[in-house]
Amino acid sequence: MVSDYSMADGIMPLDDRDLIHYATLAPSSHNTQPWLFTQGDRCIHIHADRSRRLLVVDPDDHALFISLGCALENLAIAARCAGLVPRIVDHLMDDPPTLSVYLDQAGQPVDPSDRALLTAMVERQSTRCAYNPYPIPVAHLERLKTASHEDGVHLHVAATPEAIAPFIPWVQQANRQQFSDRAFVEELMAWIRFSRREVRHHQDGIPGPGMGMPFVPRWLGQQLMAWFATPESQANQVTQRIHQSSALLLFVVDSSDRAHWVALGRSLERVVLTATQLNIRHAHLNMPCEVPAVRSQMQQHFNLEQAQPLILLRLGYSNPMPRSPRRPLNAVIQTNVSPPQE
Ligand SMILES: Cc1cc2nc3c(=O)[nH]c(=O)nc-3n(C[C@H](O)[C@H](O)[C@H](O)COP(=O)(O)O)c2cc1C
Repeated sequence: MVSDYSMADGIMPLDDRDLIHYATLAPSSHNTQPWLFTQGDRCIHIHADRSRRLLVVDPDDHALFISLGCALENLAIAARCAGLVPRIVDHLMDDPPTLSVYLDQAGQPVDPSDRALLTAMVERQSTRCAYNPYPIPVAHLERLKTASHEDGVHLHVAATPEAIAPFIPWVQQANRQQFSDRAFVEELMAWIRFSRREVRHHQDGIPGPGMGMPFVPRWLGQQLMAWFATPESQANQVTQRIHQSSALLLFVVDSSDRAHWVALGRSLERVVLTATQLNIRHAHLNMPCEVPAVRSQMQQHFNLEQAQPLILLRLGYSNPMPRSPRRPLNAVIQTNVSPPQE
């Protein structure tokens, strides 16, 4: 039951489990959901679950920490909607690396922009289909830029054909290289859920329909990938996808360490939630950020020196695609991980 006081201030009756639920709606690389949660006294800890690492595509764990940053941002927004002030203390060098969110009472009205971001969390999805590349209104591009406000994280927006063009050879080259690497393809296939039964059983990973494939038995899905997901076909498909995009967004961090990766995740999540509010779809094109030789070409092109381009998104307009699953709260809330000392 929501009290009149709460209704007047826009405060939502969310408990700790609700806050964790919103955190788990965050995106994560290959939908690994590399997080575990523990509850303390007015505190929720987010722990890295390193059993869910992607050793081939993410050997330094940057994507894992970006995913944790996305979950942290969702949790912080949901806490503010519950009338709380989230205070974040990171223990990123602990084992397991942990982000602690202390929840102090606010007594402040809820900012309507937080309510709108919370609504967008439920709607947001990575949409991997072709887009209608209508131009994104300048005012909307400005809203996306201002949504990324973490220190040490920069957003480069390419919204014209001339600005998008240099990315095409980088994405092609990196894509060819990744799909020629057997270990990369095997790791990816291990996280594709080819059948309904696999989705129900794991409740993580990327369901075939989320990649435009029908549900099929695993043996057939693997065979289809071997036939059709060749380095050349993938490079062609991704080129088409870029031509069908309204804009590309490149996220760059000043320095490549865990704190910057988490900050990037927070910015990324705010940007994709804002895009969702504006009916703009997004999907990842991270390949050139993941292949070191191609990443250096981008660094040189943009004169980045030490700064690292780590996430590339394409944006556009389309209908939604089938959603990806999340593990239930009982699988991610732990009672046997000792919380860090503040
Ligand atoms: C750090 C990070 C890296 C990602 N890399 C890719 C990628 O290379 N290709 C891709 O299609 N999706 C990528 N994604 C999107 C995830 O696959 C997606 O978030 C996950 O499957 C859950 O689906 P959802 O975003 O629709 O909730 C990435 C997401 C994150 C947070």
